[in-house]
Amino acid sequence: MSDHYAIVADNLSKSFDTRWNRGGARLLAHMTGRPTPPAHRFTAFSGVSFKVRPGEAVGIMGVNGAGKSTLLQVVAGVMVPTSGTVEVNGRVSALLELGAGFNPEFSGRENVFLNASILGFSNSAIEKLMPEVLAFADIEEEFVDRPVKTYSSGMYVRLAFAVAIHVDPDILIVDEALAVGDAFFQEKCHKFLKERLGAVTKLFVTHDTNTLRGMADRALVLDRHGLIFDGDIEKAIEVYRNEHPQS
Ligand SMILES: Nc1ncnc2c1ncn2[C@@H]1O[C@H](COP(=O)(O)OP(=O)(O)OP(=O)(O)O)[C@@H](O)[C@H]1O
Ligand SMILES: [Mg+2]
Repeated sequence: MSDHYAIVADNLSKSFDTRWNRGGARLLAHMTGRPTPPAHRFTAFSGVSFKVRPGEAVGIMGVNGAGKSTLLQVVAGVMVPTSGTVEVNGRVSALLELGAGFNPEFSGRENVFLNASILGFSNSAIEKLMPEVLAFADIEEEFVDRPVKTYSSGMYVRLAFAVAIHVDPDILIVDEALAVGDAFFQEKCHKFLKERLGAVTKLFVTHDTNTLRGMADRALVLDRHGLIFDGDIEKAIEVYRNEHPQS
């Protein structure tokens, strides 16, 4: 049945055990003889269910910390949910948070190679793809063979985005990346996504209502507990604004 869908998320939840994240708290407790801080479980979201049809573009909105990036990571298979299931039918290309998927020590060219080969591209296919990816990212010649740790954030994201959209995905998952590029790059990306990847299923996070209106067929809104809206874009924006009464 679920073959009709590109993505089926069923009752997903994700919790983090924050005991280990409290920089040295355990060590300090051990050294001072005080009791170890209690384990604390933080739930980023729970009970999240939604379906995405092939070719549909779904935007995700929500306040900072609502769990949008975590949800995308679970759908992209980078993170395991605490409970619930997610089924993804098709080849995924994901552009998650800045830095994901790129090795800072490798050059731009090497990172393109690495990313495309992970997605199953042969060396000769990558060689063919390379000029188009580099041209789309508009990375200056002198930077192409330098480690990406020397890139500006904008250059980095442009290259990561250029790879993600050129590897022939069925499903494209993007976390706020478009917000980093300059206005010209954003426009070029929107055009490419509409004209060249119109039939690709898209799941993306954005805080920008214009991007949402321009790109999405439907929107999800998350609050700090879970999914509070799934449907029409204008209604989603209203729900999101009500979360932010000051804006
Ligand atoms: N590895 C982790 N360990 C502990 N807590 C985490 C971890 N990753 C995320 N969280 C917590 O989960 C919550 C959701 O984080 P997430 O990054 O998914 O939010 P977001 O909606 O993407 O926020 P933003 O708009 O700021 O990008 C936050 O409170 C965050 O602190
Ligand atoms: Mg995020």
